[in-house]
Amino acid sequence: MELSTRFEPKIVGFLCRWCAYTGADLAGTSRIKYPPNVNPIRVNCSGRVDPTLVLKALTTGADGVLIAGCHPGDCHYTSGNVKALRRFKLLQKMLDQFGIERERVRLEWVSASEGERYARIVGQMTEEIRQLGPLDWKAKVEALA
Ligand code: FES
Repeated sequence: MELSTRFEPKIVGFLCRWCAYTGADLAGTSRIKYPPNVNPIRVNCSGRVDPTLVLKALTTGADGVLIAGCHPGDCHYTSGNVKALRRFKLLQKMLDQFGIERERVRLEWVSASEGERYARIVGQMTEEIRQLGPLDWKAKVEALA
C-alpha cells in the first residue's frame, strides 16, 4: 500500500451550537462523506468568536479557520451573526496586512438542517487550502519585517 503525501490542511471550525454545529452533526449522522480536516469547536454564537481566537488558531498551527453560524435572522441572540460578519470583514483586512490569503478564513451560515451544505463547505474549503499549501505564519510575518 502506498502512503499518500498529499497535504492535509488543519482547519479549526468555530461552529455555533444552535445551527452550524447541529448541521455538522447531521452531516455525520446522515453519513455524508466529507473531509475530516475541520476540528470543530462548539461556541454559543458566531458573534462570540473574537478575532483574537482566529489569529491564535492561525499562529499555533492551523492552516485555516471556519466560522459558521445561523443564517441572518436566525441568530438565537438576535444579532450575533451580524456582529460576526462585521468582525470578519475587519479580520480580512488584517489578514491582507499580514499577507495571509483571505481564503484561509471563511464565514458561513449553516442551519441545523443543512448537513449537506456543511459537508460541501468543508469540502470546498479543504480543497482551497490544500491548493494554497501549509500556512507558515512565522515566515509570512518575518517576510514583512
Ligand atoms: S446563535 Fe447561531 S450565530 Fe448566533
